Amino acid sequence: MTVPSAAPAQPEDPRKPRHIAIVMDGNGRWAQRRGRPRTFGHRAGAKAVRLCVRGCLEHGIHALTLFAFSSENWKRPQEEVGTLMKLFLRSLDREVDELHEHGVRLRFIGERGLLAAPIQQRMHAAERRTAGNRALNLTIAISYGGRWDIAQAARQLALAAVEGRIQPAAIDEAALAAHMQLADLPAPDLFIRTGGDHRISNFLLWQLAYTELWFTDTLWPDFDAAELARALADYAARERRYGLTGEQVERPRKGASA
Ligand code: IPE
Ligand code: IPE
Ligand code: MG
Repeated sequence: MTVPSAAPAQPEDPRKPRHIAIVMDGNGRWAQRRGRPRTFGHRAGAKAVRLCVRGCLEHGIHALTLFAFSSENWKRPQEEVGTLMKLFLRSLDREVDELHEHGVRLRFIGERGLLAAPIQQRMHAAERRTAGNRALNLTIAISYGGRWDIAQAARQLALAAVEGRIQPAAIDEAALAAHMQLADLPAPDLFIRTGGDHRISNFLLWQLAYTELWFTDTLWPDFDAAELARALADYAARERRYGLTGEQVERPRKGASA
């Protein structure tokens, strides 16, 4: 039996992440430190998103996935949820033109049925409009949870099994991976979380299996080009072993020729 390798095909430059996934945390605290309501921080956070996208375009990053609103964030006070939804709607109206001009392909992952119809419509329109772009794959995770993602993949496979399109014995890691969100992208190479907490908070649970994790105390509205450069520099110095020994990784050709 051959065990599938966790290591992806060798990227062009192994020191540069192809795919960055970010938990944009700390908006509320940023605002509270200024004596302002939490929603003020969310507005400032939207500006940081623009800077971050620009930075990724400049660095030639293939994919950027941003955690904007989790399955659990629905439980926040109604007023905050309402403001966040208004901000999404406004961003969709204001930002898509410019993203499109810069060659950004925009997509969304998450439980869309929970979002208001006007938001769903704009998401769909933005995805269709930017589908042919290649400069950067920008994915916004909204109403997203890693557990939801795994459950929806399992549901698709269960349906295929009931309909006789797949044998239960054929349901393996590859089959599940093919039905997860972002299946067409390489798994994130670099995970960034701002705001000082060291947790995943139900982000891409399946896809982060071998991702390099990087945490910063900087609150999301203060995340800028210099901070992105710091994360990239840290990533460049890491050795990704995927379960192998350091020696195997340093001399992959020798190990592979056996
Ligand atoms: C992240 O900032 C944005 C969302 C979760 C929508 P927070 O709103 O969680 O900010 P803190 O963590 O309370 O400071
Ligand atoms: C994670 O932030 C979700 C997003 C950034 C969208 P939270 O602020 O919701 O995370 P917890 O609750 O502190 O773990
Ligand atoms: Mg938070």
